[in-house]
Amino acid sequence: MKRMDFSYNNSMVSAKELLDCKKALMSEIKQMQKVSDLGYDDDRASINLPIDKEIKNLVNKLVLEKLKLNPKYIVVVGIGGSNLGTIAIQESVFGKLHNQLKANVKILYVDTVDSDLVNSVMNILEPVLKSGGNIILNGVSKSGGTTETIANFEILVNLLKKYKKNYEQYVVITTGKNSKFWNLADEKGFSVLQIPKKVGGRYSVFSPVGLFPLGMIGININKLLKGAEEARRIGLNSFMKNQSAISAAIIYSQFIKGKSIVDTFLFGTDFESLGKWYRQLMGESIGKEKDRKGKKVNLGITPTVSIGSTDLHSVAQLYLGGPKDKFTVFVSTRKDKNKINIPTMKEYSKLVDHIQGKSLKNIMDAIIGGTKRAYAKARLPFVDVILPDKCEQSIGQFLQFKMMEMMYLGVLLGVNPFDQPNVELYKIETKKLLAVKK
Ligand code: PA5
Repeated sequence: MKRMDFSYNNSMVSAKELLDCKKALMSEIKQMQKVSDLGYDDDRASINLPIDKEIKNLVNKLVLEKLKLNPKYIVVVGIGGSNLGTIAIQESVFGKLHNQLKANVKILYVDTVDSDLVNSVMNILEPVLKSGGNIILNGVSKSGGTTETIANFEILVNLLKKYKKNYEQYVVITTGKNSKFWNLADEKGFSVLQIPKKVGGRYSVFSPVGLFPLGMIGININKLLKGAEEARRIGLNSFMKNQSAISAAIIYSQFIKGKSIVDTFLFGTDFESLGKWYRQLMGESIGKEKDRKGKKVNLGITPTVSIGSTDLHSVAQLYLGGPKDKFTVFVSTRKDKNKINIPTMKEYSKLVDHIQGKSLKNIMDAIIGGTKRAYAKARLPFVDVILPDKCEQSIGQFLQFKMMEMMYLGVLLGVNPFDQPNVELYKIETKKLLAVKK
């Protein structure tokens, strides 16, 4: 299998700092290895999703069943951990323009309660349904009671009902066992896929949450999981051979030296959502009011996302000249899917020299190399992640590598990376407001 490269020569973390982290993580690595035999009875349980054949087979079976309905669209209704991973993989592997290209099944996402977004989605779907075409509606919610998801789902299921007599067969619910959504699906006869109990939203991309919609649009789930399995294997190694643990140790060591922002700088337009997926993973996992012992700490590392080379023309001035409060993770690929060469036209060489006849990837590589040199010269610490390509295996590796990194980072920082108590607060307050306002 082609492996992801992770290099930390420019991390500016000393061997002694790494050694301290190694000691702090030794028992967690052992615990993680134990969990790898425990199924889903531990908070870290998501690490077992890449090797879960039962889930994979169930999802593949349902994908085949629903593809027989010949759907033109799948609509994913879910928010946060219930759709960010799916978007990240779809865009990284198939590109942001998937729907405009030769997609057999197109995909739409509805997350927040934005009337205009929902209206646009309905404007796309209604003509399809009107002309007898089919769509699959995939409602995704671990809790089964997220306001935005249920509101949007109700609107779209109503649209489906208007045009389809046996509308139930076009609906798939992905949720926690016995949630209210689960019970409704049972009552109505919708297909249901279960999210394992101890798998939280932001760690759920390799559960049916991501696998079902991705399988529907033609992502190779087997390859995706193979890549994740490889990163899982590496993430269970002893410290010095464990990319996830080392990455966590570097981020932690830089954090305690004042780098309170981690910028994931991804070279490739289609990686933007991958960055946003990581932003949620880090934001919700590490941003905590209290530590594991209940002591108030108000701790967090702020995740930012930059896209190369676009953002070099936007925020690089700040990064290179501004406050030295950032640690950077550069993400790039060894190769692109397509090769495009610049034509050789002499008169244009006067505008920009040395690009005629070169491929766009050549130029991108020069920009990546130049950026890293500039960072090194400015004494800005960074690590380098180089993916073999943009295929399923590579993206699967990256996601699993990062999820395990976050689990280790939680341990180093002394916070619980699996809960999100403060997010729950806004949800409760919103429900109170909805109960009194008309
Ligand atoms: O990662 C998380 O736990 C959250 O972002 C949830 O995914 C998000 O709040 C949506 O929750 P649910 O899947 O229960 O609808």
